[in-house]
Amino acid sequence: MSFTVAIDGPAAAGKGTISRAVAAHFGFAHLDTGLLYRATGRRVLDGLEPVAAARALRPEDLARDDLRTAEVAQAASKVAAIPEVRAALVDFQRAFARRAGGAVLDGRDIGTVICPEAQVKLYVTASDAVRARRRFLELSGKGADVTPDGVLADLRERDARDSERAAAPLAAAADAVVLDTSALTIDEAVAKAIAVINARRG
Ligand code: DC
Repeated sequence: MSFTVAIDGPAAAGKGTISRAVAAHFGFAHLDTGLLYRATGRRVLDGLEPVAAARALRPEDLARDDLRTAEVAQAASKVAAIPEVRAALVDFQRAFARRAGGAVLDGRDIGTVICPEAQVKLYVTASDAVRARRRFLELSGKGADVTPDGVLADLRERDARDSERAAAPLAAAADAVVLDTSALTIDEAVAKAIAVINARRG
């Protein structure tokens, strides 16, 4: 029987860290669905047309090591507003969610559109200032030429586009548990997520 954990929220709220830790804890497979849009955005920066790029995506494209830049994040957010791009990526995500042994998917529309039947839905969020600080430390730690103000402006622009688009906007599902990580350590946030999942597993 499949067991699906849907984790949504804005950029740099801690979704990725929590999803990886939860998947490791329960032995579930993990899909960072942002990578699908980042890989598509990357191909568009390389000159491909967005819908064709999404349809041609192969699993190995998600492993490219140049997907974590601010430029690719913005390109991902832009292609993600195109309904035909989203439609091209639905089947892969739903098949992943149905894996035997359990799956964690994190993104923007997992609990609302991709897996409305997920057994657990978490909406992970944090204040703009906290999210910007985390992303600034992550990007500057990798040697990127970024400023705190620039990172904050970038996150706000992307969140606005992701939540205001017509197609599957960023939103908490009505039945999602909201987890605000602003004042939590990673360990505390992961422990809370695990507690929610344990309560649903019975
Ligand atoms: O999670 P991320 O920052 O890697 O996602 C990059 C972009 O992809 C994000 O700004 C919006 C888009 N995205 C989406 O529209 N739906 C998802 N399920 C995941 C990401």
